[in-house]
Amino acid sequence: MNDAWPRRYADEVLGGAADGERRRLAAMAAVCDPVTTRLLDELGVTAGWRCLEVGAGAGSVAAWLADRVTAAGQVTATDIDLSHLAGLSAPGLSVLRHDVTRDPAPPGAPFDLVHARFVLEHLPEREQVLDRLVSWLRPGGTIVVESIASFPVASSPNPTFRQAMTAIEQVLARTIGTDSTWARGFPGPLRSRHLVDVGTSSHLPTTGGANASAYCWALTLSRLRPHILSLGLATADTVDRALDLLTDPAFFDLSFATAIAWGRAPE
Ligand SMILES: C[S@@+](CC[C@H](N)C(=O)[O-])C[C@H]1O[C@@H](n2cnc3c(N)ncnc32)[C@H](O)[C@@H]1O
Repeated sequence: MNDAWPRRYADEVLGGAADGERRRLAAMAAVCDPVTTRLLDELGVTAGWRCLEVGAGAGSVAAWLADRVTAAGQVTATDIDLSHLAGLSAPGLSVLRHDVTRDPAPPGAPFDLVHARFVLEHLPEREQVLDRLVSWLRPGGTIVVESIASFPVASSPNPTFRQAMTAIEQVLARTIGTDSTWARGFPGPLRSRHLVDVGTSSHLPTTGGANASAYCWALTLSRLRPHILSLGLATADTVDRALDLLTDPAFFDLSFATAIAWGRAPE
């Protein structure tokens, strides 16, 4: 246990086997997979690649990778919590319970591709974890890191939405040590590790019209509600009104951005 962050990701904060978490991961995938898979396609992922999907969640990206690399390649989908990966099956795909902060390199290393989405920002030891991920690349192998970025919620014209989303950011920072500002420095963490062909982009989904992003944030806010209230980060009334907004087909705003950075290990 860390004195500064009394809990880890799955310690009753997020994660777990509940159906609500499955729906939250599915909504996340609906919002983000098109962006992720387009980038992976542009980066040349193809038949025969050996891929590591870190913190695979419900495995939607791992399934896409398995289809892309075919049985000639291999995909290792890892997570500390396999609750939502049990049904994942494809030729060349294996699922592994694995703590990326401390377990040895997964079987299959070194990899042609290492991908982690919405994982490192939640781990206080993210810099050491990034060192580990880079060390698991083969020469010329590609790493892609995606992280929530603390932008542009603070400029929301809707005070209820702004306060509730800020409370999500603060409660994760105070309970598990999430850093939603880390990705503002992308692609710095990859440049400083001497990767080549480094690039970056960002994705800023509209949240509203009761779309998948709004649903995902509503489930996240509901899940974090007790922690937000016990830490006094927002009132119950604010949280409830924000939940109403997130199910209102007439409400639209921008939620957190996703920052994406990629690079290749030198040959
Ligand atoms: C926000 S979810 C993202 C899931 C998936 N990557 C996606 O984008 O759809 C974060 C995932 O990281 C996993 N995770 C958290 N800490 C981890 C650790 N130390 N090692 C491996 N996975 C971890 C969680 O269990 C969870 O499945």
